[in-house]
Amino acid sequence: MTDTIKIGKVSIARTAALAPMAGVADRAYRLMCKKYGAAYVVSEMVSAKGICYSDRKTAELCTVTDEERPMAVQLFGSEPDFMGEAVKIVLEYRPDIIDINMGCPVPKVVGTGAGSALMKDIKLASAVTEAAVKAAGDTPVTVKIRSGWSADTINAPEMAKALEAAGAAAIAVHGRTRDMFYSGQSDSNIIKAVKEAVSVPVIGNGDVTDGASCAEMYRQTGCDLVMIGRGSYGNPFIFRETESLLRGEAYEPPELREKMRVMLEHIRLILELSEKCEELAMHEARKHAAWYMNGYYGSAKFRGRCYQLSSYAEAEALAEEFIELQESREINRL
Ligand SMILES: Cc1cc2nc3c(=O)[nH]c(=O)nc-3n(C[C@H](O)[C@H](O)[C@H](O)COP(=O)(O)O)c2cc1C
Repeated sequence: MTDTIKIGKVSIARTAALAPMAGVADRAYRLMCKKYGAAYVVSEMVSAKGICYSDRKTAELCTVTDEERPMAVQLFGSEPDFMGEAVKIVLEYRPDIIDINMGCPVPKVVGTGAGSALMKDIKLASAVTEAAVKAAGDTPVTVKIRSGWSADTINAPEMAKALEAAGAAAIAVHGRTRDMFYSGQSDSNIIKAVKEAVSVPVIGNGDVTDGASCAEMYRQTGCDLVMIGRGSYGNPFIFRETESLLRGEAYEPPELREKMRVMLEHIRLILELSEKCEELAMHEARKHAAWYMNGYYGSAKFRGRCYQLSSYAEAEALAEEFIELQESREINRL
């Protein structure tokens, strides 16, 4: 396996990338994943039309800091003209890559003809991609798709070929149909079929939850890069784990105390980067705290308590209490 891949002019380590996740993978999250080994990160999706009408959230969503690179800003939209204009605006933030979302299943996005609705209109999807490519100059444009709209209309390989012809520099494939939303199993075979259909790099995505499933995704699909979404919830370490496994190096999973230390580091970063007061910014941090505590004895009860956190000091105290609970359980077991 080669160590790096190239998307246009951008080199990316061939380990694992962080998937775009609106409402989750914000700057603090991306920085944590980067610190623990993510090879590449993508912004939360941003509306192309919203950018053109100078939506107040543009700067917050599109800013790319050097620590996050290589990073893509992801746009969604179904109108080629708006897409081209939006790309020109986004270029001011100097993203390494511009990614177009053609996989989002939510009715609010699909209802405008964007996201996975474009899987039903390959001609329009190509026109949107062409407009982005033309506006992007030498910044590569990639597209993230699903396997198809529904089980009877699986068309990812055909769609990927058309997008490659429209100038896409890589295709990311989530192996579920739009109708599946996020349930059922992601299909690796469709990712393999896309890899066989195009010559640009293919990014495989769906249900990678640890180093072993990442290696399996590479093996089964022949994809050029693996992208991880939900498997990184409360677990930025997944990127170190996949990197170690792929490089044949030993990997020691973090002890609980280390996990709690990293959780608090993540919360501090959320508070530092937020423009809100501590109490409101803590609302953002709550779900992350709950995720870091997943999978342990008494997690359910502690998760509930995470959703009541309103200060950093409370988070610190809760982490200490959680550690004590697990340690006392260990002692009782001996
Ligand atoms: C909360 C959440 C938000 C998401 N937001 C986006 C998004 O903004 N753009 C996008 O292309 N995909 C988005 N996705 C889809 C993920 O990028 C990914 O394709 C999907 O979760 C499957 O990968 P996984 O099984 O590793 O989570 C989102 C998924 C989740 C769970």
